[in-house]
Amino acid sequence: MSQPVFQCEQFSVTPSAISPRLLQVEFKESVVASYLKEMERYPIQALEYKSFLRFRAAQILNNLCEGKLRDVLMKSLVDRQHGALLVNPQGICRAEQGDDMVKIATAFVHLIGRSNFDAMTGTFYARWAVVNTDNSDSYLRQPRKPLELHNDGTYVNEPTDYVLMYKIDEQNMVGGDSTLLHVDDWEDLGRFFSNPLARRPIKWSAPPSKNVRAPVYHPVFEVDNEGRPVMLYIDQFAQPKDFEEGTWLADMGDSLENSPAKLSFPVPVGQFLLINNWFWLHGRDKFESHPQLRRELMRQRGYFSFATNPFTAGRTSD
Ligand SMILES: [Fe+2]
Repeated sequence: MSQPVFQCEQFSVTPSAISPRLLQVEFKESVVASYLKEMERYPIQALEYKSFLRFRAAQILNNLCEGKLRDVLMKSLVDRQHGALLVNPQGICRAEQGDDMVKIATAFVHLIGRSNFDAMTGTFYARWAVVNTDNSDSYLRQPRKPLELHNDGTYVNEPTDYVLMYKIDEQNMVGGDSTLLHVDDWEDLGRFFSNPLARRPIKWSAPPSKNVRAPVYHPVFEVDNEGRPVMLYIDQFAQPKDFEEGTWLADMGDSLENSPAKLSFPVPVGQFLLINNWFWLHGRDKFESHPQLRRELMRQRGYFSFATNPFTAGRTSD
């Protein structure tokens, strides 16, 4: 068992058994219960309608942690050595507690920034179920198909610095592990980053269910404020304009997916991943068919709003 990198009365942060890069955050049940008790006066609809209440939620949680949580989150999410957390708010792990999970997630991400409008649902988060039959137009909800390694926010103009993915429920699931890859662990990073195509703007557009009509143009690779490579890539929504771009992207997809550095692990119900979207790619393994299969997930993604954010290179607005 690794030594905690941070520990206080309310929570601990320890390198996980999955990877020393991924930090496991254990939140004490008593703190989670106190937070949810204080949040009883703010139903989910209030958080949806009044965006400033999301920051109130963050303040309540941080106060319960004597002001320590915010600093720990800011530092660990931009730290290139880590930048990924697996958070366990103890005691909240049943599907009927989904609203509580939305409140917990909202507090975490509004300590570091703000969640973007999610066009798929029309509010600041998305919550959806995966069942055994699905005819959707992307691999997001489809069983039996892997969701290959990618970054989020590739087909929108808002910066997407973080992604939070919460496991609300899981029934009759075999397979479906979460996958992650840190770009510095990818053995082919240098080969792809040094290619002139790495800096060529490529067209990205999403299918109708995403409710984002206009395509956006950007390269696969950018750099952070210290010149280190970061990525903005997704296999499904790239629209290469010619043979050269198409085959280069296809080679990259194969390389990422087959990287021996890819992490694959189950996220338990009631826990969530919070990752830096610039130097971590994420995905999901395929899973087996089952007539009563059900999985419910929630996501929030948005931007960092603190002054030391190193991912502002090339941003035109915030
Ligand atoms: Fe994603």
